[in-house]
Amino acid sequence: MTNNNLNRRQFLKYSSLGLATAAFPKFLLANTSTAKNYPSANFKADVELEFTSKSAFIQILKQGNKTAVQKYYAKVLKGDPKTLLTLKENYLGPIINLEQGQKVRVFFNNELDEPSIIHWHGLHVPQHSDGHPMYAIQPGEQYVYEFEVLNRAGTNFYHSHTHGETGRQVYNGLSSMIRVTDAHEKKLELPTGEYDLPLVIQDRSFDSDNQLSYVKRMPERMMGFLGEMIMVNGKPNIEFSVKSRAYRFRALNGSNSRIYKLAWDDGTPITVIGTDGGLLEKPEVRPYVMLAPAERLDLWLDFSGRQLGAELKLYSLPYDANLPMMMVRMSGMGSNSIEAGAKFKIASFKVTEIVSDSPKLPIQLATIKRFSENDVNNINNPIPIGLSMQHMSALINGKSFSMNRVMKDEQVELGSHKKIRIFHEQGSRGRMGMMGGMSMPHPIHLHGQQYQILSRTYNGNDEAAYATVNKGFIDNGWKDTVLVMPGEEIEIIKPFEDYKGFFLYHCHNLEHEDLGMMRQFYVG
Ligand code: C2O
Ligand code: CU
Ligand code: CU
Repeated sequence: MTNNNLNRRQFLKYSSLGLATAAFPKFLLANTSTAKNYPSANFKADVELEFTSKSAFIQILKQGNKTAVQKYYAKVLKGDPKTLLTLKENYLGPIINLEQGQKVRVFFNNELDEPSIIHWHGLHVPQHSDGHPMYAIQPGEQYVYEFEVLNRAGTNFYHSHTHGETGRQVYNGLSSMIRVTDAHEKKLELPTGEYDLPLVIQDRSFDSDNQLSYVKRMPERMMGFLGEMIMVNGKPNIEFSVKSRAYRFRALNGSNSRIYKLAWDDGTPITVIGTDGGLLEKPEVRPYVMLAPAERLDLWLDFSGRQLGAELKLYSLPYDANLPMMMVRMSGMGSNSIEAGAKFKIASFKVTEIVSDSPKLPIQLATIKRFSENDVNNINNPIPIGLSMQHMSALINGKSFSMNRVMKDEQVELGSHKKIRIFHEQGSRGRMGMMGGMSMPHPIHLHGQQYQILSRTYNGNDEAAYATVNKGFIDNGWKDTVLVMPGEEIEIIKPFEDYKGFFLYHCHNLEHEDLGMMRQFYVG
């Protein structure tokens, strides 16, 4: 397979979809054929990785058969071997450890029997290295990513982003975590190594043969997949052994649709030190925190002073997800899924060693330059992201995803900062039935640069339901995914700097995304 082949195939594919339509000005077209399957001579990589997606059998459950999964295998071709941390006997891909300023090249080989592409969720990279579904490669093909790590230190995510199949491929295993560090973070001397613990939280359902079962019927897809079992780092019922000292926990919600309300079972408040885009200015302490699909929260917990053998459990506490009851009933029929908003245990931590020394939580973690309305050039004319679910479809501004369309509102000038208003469309506010349009929580993700949340307003009519979640939003840091609860309206400010091209935005409830709740910006 050669570069020309790939480009020609992509070209044919997109022209056959009717690329040259009026809604899609000609000047944009040139950019759709920038797929890469060869390394650039002028890009001097510090780190080179090889990723291969394959079918595999993994012992996920302790008893019984192995489970068929789709999995990323990877190796370091150039650079520090610690760039990859392989999780043993796991469906999750390796954890990738990067550093700000590094130039990274990834050779991605697709050895699945279906098209696929990897997206580096949270990283600010050029269009051709962002894993846009237009670049999905066929079995046996290779895709080459090249990017510089511009992000600050933080916790990111990578996963398959294949058009219409993202939910199923991610569910089957195609995802994991990216950690980025930088010089500023190193000076803080936060917990590292075994004290810097990933917590990739997901839910899964297995049949009697230990095989994964995924959504089948429409009501279930509209709600989003909800599994019967909670997995942490690819394992059910996880128990960590910890020392009596401080830890950094990198919580990543890698679930397709489940939203967690994280809390410690003994009432210890949750201390948050970072969000999607890295460290907060100062730690924030909350009774609980909400973690929607694709969101990340870096938590701090100091086990100092706890007794040998003491156990602390991480729970998801009950909340009112404000879901239309009819849908809940229809989607849950015949399944043992843990209901949205139910209470359940996620993981437990047992103190198995007493140590005398521990790092202290810094008072100041970082400085963040706050955007204000003065930084945008569209104060009175925010870009709308109107969410709706009607007639068995999930839409943005009344439209479904289209690989070759960008509306006028979706064309933004390179270098600009935009105010963006995310809201539920009229008629989808209340707890309604399936026919009249309905409101659901939607975690809204924008590719490209991280953004800031300007405001979060509740206009809904169910204050009691809202009160079960409203203390759990960490809106002060850099974000790439924001949970929009029913009745909420959120304004953000997003910079569109550095790279021209197509950048997706979508609901990260992966079933909603696959149903079409995705659009794209063209930055030019
Ligand atoms: Cu995490 Cu467009 O994705
Ligand atoms: Cu993303
Ligand atoms: Cu959604």
